[in-house]
Amino acid sequence: MRYMVTGGLGFIGSNFLQRNVVARPNDTFVNVDSCSYAANPKSVESLESAANYRFVRLDLAGGSDVRTVVTEVSPDVIVHFAAESHVDRSIRGPESFLRSNVIATHNLLEAARELWARGREGVRFHHVSTDEVFGSLGSEGAFTEETPYDPSSPYSATKAASDHLVRAWHRTFGLPVTISNCSNNYGPRQHPEKLIPLMILNAKAGHALPVYGEGANIRDWLHVDDHCAAIELILEKGQSGRTYNVGGHGERTNLQVVEAICTSMAAELGRSEASVREQIRYVQDRPGHDFRYAIDPRRIESELGWKPKWTFEDGLRETVRWYVANEAWCASAVNDDYRQWTQTHYAPPQTGTP
Ligand code: DAU
Repeated sequence: MRYMVTGGLGFIGSNFLQRNVVARPNDTFVNVDSCSYAANPKSVESLESAANYRFVRLDLAGGSDVRTVVTEVSPDVIVHFAAESHVDRSIRGPESFLRSNVIATHNLLEAARELWARGREGVRFHHVSTDEVFGSLGSEGAFTEETPYDPSSPYSATKAASDHLVRAWHRTFGLPVTISNCSNNYGPRQHPEKLIPLMILNAKAGHALPVYGEGANIRDWLHVDDHCAAIELILEKGQSGRTYNVGGHGERTNLQVVEAICTSMAAELGRSEASVREQIRYVQDRPGHDFRYAIDPRRIESELGWKPKWTFEDGLRETVRWYVANEAWCASAVNDDYRQWTQTHYAPPQTGTP
């Protein structure tokens, strides 16, 4: 099998490659990534010498080059991870999300359709998406595959658009596709703009731990390894045209997550838990902040036999250990772009002219 993995320098894509390149020496993996601010070549450094791995730098929003590369690689499977994914950045600047998430997905679908129309019957397009397309839940219920789309942020609106494109290319052109909508991922190699790595790195550095609002918003945490295992099962056994929700039964308030990180960090750093907790700061809330996400994963569990292996407590403890142990990776992630982002995003609000 020839796999084209888009966004393989990002968090979930690089974990997918780490799980599969060495484990499947008879398959080939072409990692196609635009090298945006969120890309980290260090995340796949250990794979660079593998004979069945190749990297191609490509901006999927760029147009005709996408066709050229897809034709040249001629993949059996396209796993489309590439996306701009940070909600706060989409609030500051929505336009690049349209390019990276909508235009890019369109270009890739068109290139896949061309390949498939030329007789490559086996081509499968798997689109990796998010539960944020469903909007916000109250304190009850969970998202199913039938929940209507109701995205809140520019980011989730562009992911919703990309999901619609993928379904349209299946219904209109017959392209074989599958879609997965996952809850919040965590684990090794995640960009430190996201809640869990941000808190780990800030706790270690003695910086503030910025909790939006009162920390009462709820996310449903899924270990990235469990997510990748779900994608592998969908590729193997998923039905074309079908959507699968993937979630780890891991609902926690943000404050619970941050406090659990404080506990683990205190143990790792030999500090008192109280001293790490003192770093918590309640900061201005995110505009349009979705209150709660929760996934009902019964379809993928019953149809494909998927079950998450990680409990949130074990997964978080191991994740904290990974970031503490992998200083070189963390140093590569805390680059100038990241420093500039944190300085502007977490700056205290201006209160008028002095
Ligand atoms: O649900 C899946 C989604 O999960 C993905 O589609 C997104 O790409 C991914 O970024 C994530 O979205 P969230 O907005 O939930 O993730 P984030 O890590 O930014 O924030 C998690 C929660 O923590 C959210 O309620 C906002 C809050 N938060 C976040 C940051 C960065 C804070 O309280 N403080 C912070 O500094």
